[in-house]
Amino acid sequence: MIAMRYLYFACFTLLCFACKKESVTEVAKEKSGEANDYYNEDHRPQFHFSPEANWMNDPNGMVFYEGEYHLFYQYYPDSTVWGPMHWGHAVSPDMVSWEHLPIALYPDGLGYIFSGSAVIDWQNTSGLGDGKEPPMIAIFTHHNMEGERNKTNVFQYQSIAYSNDRGRTFVKYDGNPVVANPGIKDFRDPKVIWHEASKKWIMVFAAYDKVRIYNSPNLIDWTFTSEFGIPGDKRLWECPDLFPMKVGGTDEEKWVLITSIQKEAPNGGTATSYFVGDFDGSNFIGDNKNQKWLDYGTDNYAMVSWADVPESDGRRLALGWMSNWQYAQKVPTEKWRSAMTLPRTLTLHKTKGDYFLRSLPVKELTELEDESSTVSGQTLNGVFELPSDYDHFLYKLELSFEKPPKGMIEVRFSNDVDESLSVGYSIAEKQYFIDRTFAGKDDFSDVFADYHVGDASYSHDQVDMVIYTDVSSVELFADQGQCVMTDIFFPTEPYNKIEIVAENNDVNLIKGKVTKLGSIW
Ligand code: FRU
Repeated sequence: MIAMRYLYFACFTLLCFACKKESVTEVAKEKSGEANDYYNEDHRPQFHFSPEANWMNDPNGMVFYEGEYHLFYQYYPDSTVWGPMHWGHAVSPDMVSWEHLPIALYPDGLGYIFSGSAVIDWQNTSGLGDGKEPPMIAIFTHHNMEGERNKTNVFQYQSIAYSNDRGRTFVKYDGNPVVANPGIKDFRDPKVIWHEASKKWIMVFAAYDKVRIYNSPNLIDWTFTSEFGIPGDKRLWECPDLFPMKVGGTDEEKWVLITSIQKEAPNGGTATSYFVGDFDGSNFIGDNKNQKWLDYGTDNYAMVSWADVPESDGRRLALGWMSNWQYAQKVPTEKWRSAMTLPRTLTLHKTKGDYFLRSLPVKELTELEDESSTVSGQTLNGVFELPSDYDHFLYKLELSFEKPPKGMIEVRFSNDVDESLSVGYSIAEKQYFIDRTFAGKDDFSDVFADYHVGDASYSHDQVDMVIYTDVSSVELFADQGQCVMTDIFFPTEPYNKIEIVAENNDVNLIKGKVTKLGSIW
């Protein structure tokens, strides 16, 4: 009897152990299944920020507070095309890995929540703080659909919301809007900074084909001070930014006015531009004929900078939306639409009496770096394959060439179905280029398959290219960030080959390095 009971007990334990084992395996399977599906759909970027699902456009409210980089963004949670705008929200300790947070701002009776910025009101000038910590103030455009439908011309106005819990929850100010619309149809995208010299808040926002500047002692009462635009410009301006910068290695201070332009960008459609000038607390004084491009690619729009980056850090950090209104709502992704560019550090430089911004990926991105292979200096003639034995198309390429007397340098990425994308430099044109004409799917737009160029007519002895590839995007930072190009593309099969093409030409590769990058999701 005892033996029977023992046998029964032994069998039961074994069975349970088997059950237990099975369920552990199940869990592991489920987990790995989940891990395999999560952020692994076709074309899903692996180290760029993208929403878990649905539509995203401009980055909004970028502010650093208590060790967190906040990224709010234009978000429509109910569809993969643009719709009633909310502010989505994510935070990061380093701008590389992101934690998704609940939606921060929902549309309300005053309208949809369009683009804008956020600041920390350190001295509680607004009086909206709770006395324990300085409030985070979001400044955004309310877009009133009814007003738009009724063709009122006053349906966009600036409003604020405040948070006393590190951006986790926001309360809309009950006196909204704080900047009423005087009758300008396009009147949006406020970016606010604290101006120490005048001890005032400065707001810059887009008003059709120019920007308007306001100031305020408290983020609530705003006074109009000036406008800046290009007389006769009939392009729509959006998402401006205004900030001071020291000119590379000197004490000279200039002000940069960023503005995104909604049509006729250098390579078509929408892109981010800038002017360099001065700011006296009321006026931006700059040459409006000297408009420059922050990124020559087609896919960097609404790029603006983070507020409140500590002085001890001192960087001007920026992020853009990696798409173009020409086709953003039609790109062939299913669950979500759009990603952000890589976060970039901007610096200002003076060459031959003119000022230029350079942008480079933030140094924190080195966290993603895995194994690398270096290619030592050699003369190439023909097609030279670079090591690319990696399952994923996640790479950082660093390539330095002697500038050849003629021809071009081309880096070609391709897959097994003969789709390819080239990044390179053309000597005769003095231009960098990205050619996505045969890069993959393009039937969703008439303008997508094309050859894009970026100006590199400045003097440079070498052709230095740093290229990041992430499944469906390529970012070129040439000549230490002087010429930048960001393009997206949609291969029908993942790319798996990298070649340097130097046909009928001797090209001297000074050094080359290919680094595999990891995923953040
Ligand atoms: C720029 C933009 C902004 C506007 C937002 C609406 O991409 O058109 O001007 O605030 O998108 O989503």
